[in-house]
Amino acid sequence: MQITSFKQYEEDYKKSVENPEQFWGEVAQNFQWRKPWYKVLSWDFETPTIKWFEGAKLNITENCLDRHLANNGDKPAIIWEPNNPEAESVTLTYKMLHERVCRFANVLKRNGAQKGDRICIYMPMVPELAIAVLACARIGAVHSVVFGGFSAKSIADRINDAQCKLVITADGAYRGNKQIPLKDVIDDALIGCPTVAKCIVLTHVRTPVSMLKGRDVWWEDEVKHVNDVCEAEEMDAEDLLFILYTSGSTGKPKGVVHTCGGYMVYAGYTFTNVFNYQPGEVYFCTADIGWITGHSYIVYGPLSQGATSVLFEGIPTYPNASRFWDIVEKHKVNTLYTAPTAIRSLMSFGEEPLEGKDFSSIRVLGSVGEPINEEAWHWFDEKIGDKKAPIVDTWWQTETGGIMISPIATVTPTKPSFATLPLPGIQPILVDENGNEIEGNGVSGNLCIKFPWPGMLRTTYGDHERCKQTYFSTYENLYFTGDGCLRDEDGYYRITGRVDDVLNVSGHRIGTAEVENAINMHAGVIESAVVGYPHDVKGQGIFAFVISPEMHGDVELTKKDILQTVTRVIGAIAKPDKILFVSGLPKTRSGKIMRRILRKIAEGDTANLGDISTLLDPNVVQEIIESAKKS
Ligand code: WT7
Repeated sequence: MQITSFKQYEEDYKKSVENPEQFWGEVAQNFQWRKPWYKVLSWDFETPTIKWFEGAKLNITENCLDRHLANNGDKPAIIWEPNNPEAESVTLTYKMLHERVCRFANVLKRNGAQKGDRICIYMPMVPELAIAVLACARIGAVHSVVFGGFSAKSIADRINDAQCKLVITADGAYRGNKQIPLKDVIDDALIGCPTVAKCIVLTHVRTPVSMLKGRDVWWEDEVKHVNDVCEAEEMDAEDLLFILYTSGSTGKPKGVVHTCGGYMVYAGYTFTNVFNYQPGEVYFCTADIGWITGHSYIVYGPLSQGATSVLFEGIPTYPNASRFWDIVEKHKVNTLYTAPTAIRSLMSFGEEPLEGKDFSSIRVLGSVGEPINEEAWHWFDEKIGDKKAPIVDTWWQTETGGIMISPIATVTPTKPSFATLPLPGIQPILVDENGNEIEGNGVSGNLCIKFPWPGMLRTTYGDHERCKQTYFSTYENLYFTGDGCLRDEDGYYRITGRVDDVLNVSGHRIGTAEVENAINMHAGVIESAVVGYPHDVKGQGIFAFVISPEMHGDVELTKKDILQTVTRVIGAIAKPDKILFVSGLPKTRSGKIMRRILRKIAEGDTANLGDISTLLDPNVVQEIIESAKKS
């Protein structure tokens, strides 16, 4: 299933378009099934209904663990690098990981979890996080991992939306020189979560935590009460594997649903191909398992292929800006998959953190999460890859389950800041506002996908209509990505960024409406409008225009109060970088905020505001420009 030449890529691509069922049927043979499918694909983008490998039975953990035991049981599956560089790293072989997953799966059962139950996971980047994820999959429970940076309210909303029965967390997390009190946050969340009966708590930082009798149990105690034999639950290919919440243009995050069979095939196929993974190599993805990148390319993709996956607890700048390079050297990392925001941040420290570091193990580099600017691309290529390691700029989304448009390492000729070409099975199309296809090369438009792929979302949890509205109704019979895209003269794709009201801040996806709702919850705030603006390190920064006559004596303090409110409502990741107090917002006669104008002001480009004649009160614009200048 591994593509080794550009000619083979072209042949596979052609086959995947002309005969998708045969193509994916053959790819799927590389995985282990309890029972084969009777139909590879049924689909209809209108309802939408998407079924892959119908009738097939499997358990993804048998593919990620059991099937490697006979020949690769002693091979490292996970290498854990702790936050503290002085602390010992931990290697879990496939045998050890299998044993621990089975044991913890029995803990879940002992605490009442059954096939189909939803389980919320809120944990630091420790091996137990991967174990918890896989243990859910082992027993057929649906995991909903929530990133450790979200607030109690965000967690509660997610738990309630999915009606979770169980929560798995830790006492706390380390992040650089900070400690995050995870259990405290969970305790606040659970006040408003009637469906949660049990909370399993891992000891990690050993900070004092409240343990509620009857609800809270310690991970370490629980594993003593069970053995490590746990037969995997037989799952239908279309049974739910996980829910992962992501932001959209409305205020409420959506629970993106992925199912067992198609997701497994897609994560495994794309992992082995995009990174050209070779047996025995060490692969390091710097993402957090709280995001889709971690799900697909720390856990499921690599493990399904018997790879060695590095799991890093810390941050790129702790204890200093050499940390990634120290990890590369220490674990002889062959593939480094990271985000443009991390690259830009590390670039800003200059040459010194790179001095004397051994990058000779590096064979493939990867980028994900946002457009990579040319400067960052070249720095990555020259300083880290010594111009010898292909860079795979991988475009995809939570909804796509796996990488969609990307070079195939060692196969596809790369081009700085281009995601290059669609992977086999992926049929991108560019459309104009009316949904007409924009054909030919040297064009740009809105990026859609016109044919299903195994890793695509099936629904949004508890609200299928929302899935239809968000992704399948903008353009008839197309999946709409929300991204703008350019196709150059060579037919290469370059993603230019979101065309909807979704921001990408340090690779984190945040809806402007979500941030506005949070700001509006602050006492004294009447209304707000949030837009993105170009930010050197974060890619995009958050700019908030706020109407708030009540300042409680101090403008700066009121700004901080608002930041605190946003931190409480969403999490620190959604804090605006800039707040500007205004007395009005530019609105059309129908009351719609003209964000285009606010974006220009946020960018500092007030000379070209375009047509403002449709505004209800054009004077506000001048007023806002003046306050912006003053601040
Ligand atoms: C959005 C999806 C899936 C990985 C992590 C983000 C942007 C993602 C790229 C890239 C340009 C990219 C898009 C996309 N994006 N990768 N290589 N080049 N933009 O997942 O949180 O679901 O966000 O991230 O705008 O729609 P996500």
